[in-house]
Amino acid sequence: MHDTLLLFGATGDLAQRYLFPSLLHLLRDRLLPSTFRVVAIGRTEHDRAGFEAWLRDHVDASDERDAAALDDLLRRTDYVSIDLNDQPSMTAALAPYADRPSVSYLATPPDLFVPAARGLKAAGLLEDPSRLVLEKPIGHDLASARSINLALKECLDESRIFRIDHYLGKAPVQNLLALRFGNTLMEAVWHNRWIQSVDILVAETAGVDGREGYYANYGALRDMVQNHMLQLLALIAMEPPNALDADSVRDEKRKVLRALRPMTAADVGNDSVRGRYGDGVVEGSAVKGFTHDSEVETFVALRAYIDNWRWAGVPFRLVTGKRMAARTTEVVVSFKPVSHWVFERPSKQRARSNRLRMRLQPEETIELGLMGSLAAPEWDAIELQPLSLDLSMSPTPHRRIAYERLLVDALKGNQTLFVRDDEVEAAWQWIDSISNAWQAAATPALAYPAGSWGPAAASDFLPPKSNGHRPGKAAK
Ligand code: BG6
Repeated sequence: MHDTLLLFGATGDLAQRYLFPSLLHLLRDRLLPSTFRVVAIGRTEHDRAGFEAWLRDHVDASDERDAAALDDLLRRTDYVSIDLNDQPSMTAALAPYADRPSVSYLATPPDLFVPAARGLKAAGLLEDPSRLVLEKPIGHDLASARSINLALKECLDESRIFRIDHYLGKAPVQNLLALRFGNTLMEAVWHNRWIQSVDILVAETAGVDGREGYYANYGALRDMVQNHMLQLLALIAMEPPNALDADSVRDEKRKVLRALRPMTAADVGNDSVRGRYGDGVVEGSAVKGFTHDSEVETFVALRAYIDNWRWAGVPFRLVTGKRMAARTTEVVVSFKPVSHWVFERPSKQRARSNRLRMRLQPEETIELGLMGSLAAPEWDAIELQPLSLDLSMSPTPHRRIAYERLLVDALKGNQTLFVRDDEVEAAWQWIDSISNAWQAAATPALAYPAGSWGPAAASDFLPPKSNGHRPGKAAK
């Protein structure tokens, strides 16, 4: 396990909210090497005391064990202020840390990836076996992602590049693999012969707040669908890998991403909805709408098709939005109706098809909707009712921050939960088809009130609720 972490973007939002808290927990739980050290790198000028004060101010260590871990983390941390576009001074400042193998983590905007990688290489920090971790987004479209990937390869080999998608670090996301490939029952029906449709919903109550500059260039399609949602889709749709090593899993995910049917301007009217939140009420509090000048969307609903043998004809509905009515991430697999219905009650039309609902956050539940007659009187004609097989973990287990797992994997050199260059590019290729089609068709971002389920036009894209109904239509 490498013991040196160079953290770029150390005073940024991600470092403050997730990376330093993750390091704190890993140190507290003794999951890092005893010689572990951090080189925190930011643009802000801080001396050691200044950075220490900043970190104490921005990381919650109210618990006694966390407070001790924060002291420990600070003892192990150097702060270096660098302008990443000034390569000679970057090289000079970082060269002293090239004494042993390291992991450099770029929690910076993508336009800094290449200058940072070149500076690191010049400082001797990308020599084998040192590694490079990149935060999403990798570029803004296929062309920019390709040029980043190409430039990185001049600095180090793909086997040492770790592209983060923090959804892959979430335990319930990994459980999708466990459920699919650890159970005969699932894989036997995981096919267009039995599956009618798949819904993937990632609804957030949070708004864009504080990230307007970044978000105005990206929007929901690039911020959420290109990465997290397509990774979920790939895990649900991939063929069984022959092993769980990095390349076996990533080969299969890439095949799915490549099989996504590109969207055209003729499709987007039917197969997509863009939205943007206005003023509204979220969880009881009034919030302002997103009013940036750009045309960017904060909500997107898509109907995707995977053109391969297993999934031909099965719609995958992907919905994500900010400032929605509730925070929930779920995958709903709806099965086809039975081929021949022999019961009088209920009638065939009123029978409910089987449905597997896997909720990933905030709670972790797995619910299988079946039909049965357990609750019906035994002396009359058989009467079926919807029943639910509920596999909830109650209470939901305490989960580590997704980044804790990913940081440990990067330090150990395990790439399975990181995204390979060709996966990123295949995902961008599909995303580009949508953004080009939106542009050609001049698809507007429809207004929806904060605290709703998105524009009314998207109601058919939302996953059915447990009672079979779709969430209420939002006001226009
Ligand atoms: C990030 C996006 O990658 O994921 C954010 O940039 C989004 O806009 C976040 O809020 C959602 O992550 P989580 O773990 O809260 O579901």
